[in-house]
Amino acid sequence: MTDLATALTAANSAVFRSLGFEERYAEVRRSDRPDLGEFQCNGALAAAKAAGRKPQEIAQQAAAAWTATDLAGKPAIAGPGFLNFTTTLGALTARAQAIADDARAGASVVEHKRRVVVDYGGPNVAKGMHVGHLRASIIGESVKRIYRFRGDEVWGDAHFGDWGFQMGLVITALEDELGGFADNAKLGARLRTLTLDQLETIYPAAAQRIKTDPAFLDRARKATAALQAGAEPHRTIWKAMHDVSMAAQKRDFHALGVDFDLWHGESDADPLIPDMVKDLEAKGLLEEDQGARILRVANPGETRKKKRDDGTVVEVESPDPLLVVSSEGSAMYGTTDLATILQRVRAQKPDMVLYVVDQRQADHFEQVFRAAAKAGYISRDKLEHVGFGTMNGPDGKPFKTRAGGVLKLQDLIGQAEAKARERLKENDIGADFSKAEFEDVAHKVAIAAIKFADLTNFRGTSYVFDLDRFMSFEGKTGPYLLYQAVRIKSVMRRAEAEGVLAGPISIAHPAERALTLALDGFEAALRSAYDKKAPHFLAEHAYVLAQTFSGFWTNCPILQSEGAVRASRLALAAATLKQLVLTLDLLGIEVPERM
Ligand code: ARG
Repeated sequence: MTDLATALTAANSAVFRSLGFEERYAEVRRSDRPDLGEFQCNGALAAAKAAGRKPQEIAQQAAAAWTATDLAGKPAIAGPGFLNFTTTLGALTARAQAIADDARAGASVVEHKRRVVVDYGGPNVAKGMHVGHLRASIIGESVKRIYRFRGDEVWGDAHFGDWGFQMGLVITALEDELGGFADNAKLGARLRTLTLDQLETIYPAAAQRIKTDPAFLDRARKATAALQAGAEPHRTIWKAMHDVSMAAQKRDFHALGVDFDLWHGESDADPLIPDMVKDLEAKGLLEEDQGARILRVANPGETRKKKRDDGTVVEVESPDPLLVVSSEGSAMYGTTDLATILQRVRAQKPDMVLYVVDQRQADHFEQVFRAAAKAGYISRDKLEHVGFGTMNGPDGKPFKTRAGGVLKLQDLIGQAEAKARERLKENDIGADFSKAEFEDVAHKVAIAAIKFADLTNFRGTSYVFDLDRFMSFEGKTGPYLLYQAVRIKSVMRRAEAEGVLAGPISIAHPAERALTLALDGFEAALRSAYDKKAPHFLAEHAYVLAQTFSGFWTNCPILQSEGAVRASRLALAAATLKQLVLTLDLLGIEVPERM
């Protein structure tokens, strides 16, 4: 099944070929000026440039060679040489019917299935999930669903930050709290009552302390190395912290509608590290650097300017070398990432690994990817950092609470739910619902508001957190989209109650034509979202579809009409609902039954 633009491109390619023009100039897309034509090819401009001819001439030649088909009439020429196409009623009707009959609502699958690991979420043990992990979770979840829906075999992996220095830091802080680890019973009792809230106080306090207490810093580093060497009670303490954090994070992810196939952490890659380091050593890739072992990834001549503490500027290699083993002998963030690549190569044999992580970690991933390629573990082009901008506060800086702290995910969701309850009441929604249903709807509205506000921006763009705006029932928001979907659901319920059945689609009214074209746009939006790892294409599609449906709703009464017209309109409404629910699901947004 192909969308209309693809079918038009194929027909136009044949015309271009027959005239000796390159096929790549034949691409037909939805027009930005629907008043001039529904679809457009602007390749005559580029073809003319390449051939040193006039665009108008090329466009005329192509238009003349086009014969009207079942798909479209002869194209019209506009502007400097655009070809404008209008599809036939037959083609449009067939497309609408195909979408209505298709469980995938008109979306195709990839030709070559790939094996894809999506690394996203990335919360850290001993630190609660905060809004910094919100975008990673929302975007990653959507990217995972998009890839899976297109037919790839996909694993989502949380890649918990449960290894490295932060662990040594908390262990050392606990050691001071307990006055040493000599008393086993005392330690056991402490660990049994350990909570995430406590860890969230201990961790930042310890992180603060190392800035002024070099002896404490030194002990924390040694504790990290001891943990990684399997020492006790380090392992036992680590396990307790890990379990407490993991349970809380599973709860938060669940509330957000985010799920993973693999709940692996950095620590899971640790057993691979000794052999990996030996292997890197044997390949001659490691260098000694002030007691640490590093892997250089810059190519000769790749440098950047760096300002030293004394103010002088020097040229240094760029990217920086990857720090593989610290001078204390412990594995670093990059080391676990490198070992995780090995682990994934063995277990999932991925054709592609996508890292949905804050843009600010771009340098880190460049180091890791280059190191993996240099070591021969995987080719560079199979690894991709899918970066994103920050969610900012009104001051334009990464979002903080009023007290200046990081907002916990749980609190954020709670705030959004409170606002959702308010809005539902203002809009007179749910007065007749049971308490449980009302709460369920409020939760879904809250999550839709948060997720849609995030996904409607291109991921690279930063945006300002504004719950009032996100939660509006009008405009480009999650609640607006839910409201539209629920409205169609209610029509379906009424139709069922009245025994009205959907029937063959026939298109007469311009609003029916517009709705079919909007439905047809799903495929192109999905493909762009997939190719560019950018869910905003689907967010935009959902919005356009909902708006176009609104126009249809106003102009084309469904249940008040009769006979074949009513059956056709009901079928169009059902197709819209199916595709809208599917699109929202690809964004990770759930639609309630009613609201
Ligand atoms: N835990 C990291 C952080 O909070 C994110 C992990 C991202 N994934 C990775 N493979 N490094 O910054």
